[in-house]
Amino acid sequence: MTYEAITAEANAQGNAGVTLLTINRPKALNALNSQVLEELIHAFAAYQADDTQLCAVLTGSGEKAFAAGADIKEMSDKAAADFYLEDFFGPWTSEIVKKTRKPWIAAVNGFALGGGCELAMMADFIIASDNAKFGQPEINLGVAPGMGGSQRLTRAIGKSKSMEMCLTGRMMGAEEAERANLIVRVVPQAELVIETLKTAATIASKPPMATIANKEMVNSAFEMTLDQGLIVERRIFQILTASEDKAEGMAAFIEKREGQWKGR
Ligand code: CAA
Repeated sequence: MTYEAITAEANAQGNAGVTLLTINRPKALNALNSQVLEELIHAFAAYQADDTQLCAVLTGSGEKAFAAGADIKEMSDKAAADFYLEDFFGPWTSEIVKKTRKPWIAAVNGFALGGGCELAMMADFIIASDNAKFGQPEINLGVAPGMGGSQRLTRAIGKSKSMEMCLTGRMMGAEEAERANLIVRVVPQAELVIETLKTAATIASKPPMATIANKEMVNSAFEMTLDQGLIVERRIFQILTASEDKAEGMAAFIEKREGQWKGR
């Protein structure tokens, strides 16, 4: 597939095993139209299928926006029946979230509003530039979040703050987002992509099967009871002890050398 609305770069900027995906509609503040979302699904599937790529970073082009939301112009004339019959946003979001078992990080470089905030929250974690602004302003359009905002934002920052943001549509700056645990850290805008690629390269240097297992475990904490989650954790841990990478990792520690990973 040839991409027009995004770009995809494997081994990005010399970082082995790291794929950089960039939403590329800067004039529309990287608004998420159906072309962007379809290309992103394809790019995430290609990343997942490529055994040489072990962590991905998603960002927006330009200095102003990660993504200023779903494309309002595309949605404005669409009939409610079509939104419902197409299960609008459903297939896109479940394709990206459920089929990407390998880790990916959102590098939020400016506005992450509505669907943009929701897309960032689908990532395993978010690193943001100092000019980042997060928000769920759908209330101002007479609608409400539709790509997971009311659920993921509430799980990330708690009911009060999430409720206030959804009801008022106000934006949250990067510093507040860090205090509220929405993001991991804030970096100067000029360094955002380089810093996030560095973090991704660290992840890509770890034993790949254990990386997927760690992601699966942490996500289980949001999807099941504590007892069920603890069982999932123990079983995955026990399975990993049979891996070649476990034998190598423990031998490497004892022999005081770096591990050489096979991903099995
Ligand atoms: N959809 C389509 N186009 C958008 C857009 C969006 N979500 N956000 C910005 N744009 C376009 C603008 O229409 C404008 O295009 P033109 O030059 O052709 O007029 C261009 O991007 C630049 O935007 P502004 O001139 O508005 O830039 P600004 O600096 O004055 O304001 C902003 C920036 C505050 C982010 C403002 O653009 C804005 O409020 N955007 C909409 C934010 C929003 O409501 N997002 C939620 C969308 S609904 C949604 O996402 C549903 C869901 O839950 C999935």
